[in-house]
Amino acid sequence: MSDDLILQTEQLSKEFRGFTAVNSVNLAVRRGSIHALIGPNGAGKTTCFNLLTKFLEPTSGRIVFNGHDITRERPAQIARRGIIRSFQISAVFPHLTLMENVRLGLQRRLGVSFQFWRSERMLEQLDARALELLQEVGLRDLAHEETVNLPYGRKRALEIATTLAMEPELMLLDEPTQGMGHEDVERVTQLIKKVAAGRTVLMVEHNMKVVSTIADKITVLQRGAVLAEGPYAEVSRNPLVMEAYMGTTEGQLQGAH
Ligand SMILES: Nc1ncnc2c1ncn2[C@@H]1O[C@H](COP(=O)(O)OP(=O)(O)OP(=O)(O)O)[C@@H](O)[C@H]1O
Ligand SMILES: [Mg+2]
Repeated sequence: MSDDLILQTEQLSKEFRGFTAVNSVNLAVRRGSIHALIGPNGAGKTTCFNLLTKFLEPTSGRIVFNGHDITRERPAQIARRGIIRSFQISAVFPHLTLMENVRLGLQRRLGVSFQFWRSERMLEQLDARALELLQEVGLRDLAHEETVNLPYGRKRALEIATTLAMEPELMLLDEPTQGMGHEDVERVTQLIKKVAAGRTVLMVEHNMKVVSTIADKITVLQRGAVLAEGPYAEVSRNPLVMEAYMGTTEGQLQGAH
């Protein structure tokens, strides 16, 4: 595997009782890139993510991360290697403040017992780092607000902060802009671009405006298999891809741009 690639899958497959949800997928994610996984509903995108984080066991195939075969590793080992999925490990607690939520992420990353952090000095260090992360996602001013009071888009930004607290080398984002209004979509798109600096992002995204704005490379899945791959300009003109998107609920690939 070339040093260029942070993640590679080889013939990755997942069957559910004879139904092939992911079919011999070869993914190659370049280090430092934003890579989008797209495809119609039921194409196997989320299942792919579940295989990468080992939430599901692959039926066959291999997953290689930073040169290590991680196919047989457990979810906790994979998280320790720096593959962090947002909105799963990093769910936020509504009745904690933003700052407390980010601090929890930091504590989880360090994986030490809560007792250890009872020392005043340690807590201060954690707080300082939590504030930095909130600053990074534009929520510094709301640090002491209760999370439940945040508008939806801001909550997603907070989830990105709690994911960053886990020090991801590869961030997996499953539909980060889902259910958002236009302004929030713009804001979160720019946020992803910003936090992608020095990291790698693999994202499932239905919104083609988002994909065309920030993705360096796109892999299109259809019925579990890779249908096309390349930069947006290329993929969006691919007749096979246009056909795959016809009549689906997420709208036309071209029209969304
Ligand atoms: N645990 C499971 N058991 C059986 N079938 C499953 C399971 N998980 C997913 N599937 C099936 O696998 C296929 C792929 O599902 P998946 O959720 O990966 O699609 P997706 O591309 O994420 O779709 P969407 O865009 O709707 O989120 C679907 O047909 C789904 O019904
Ligand atoms: Mg999905």
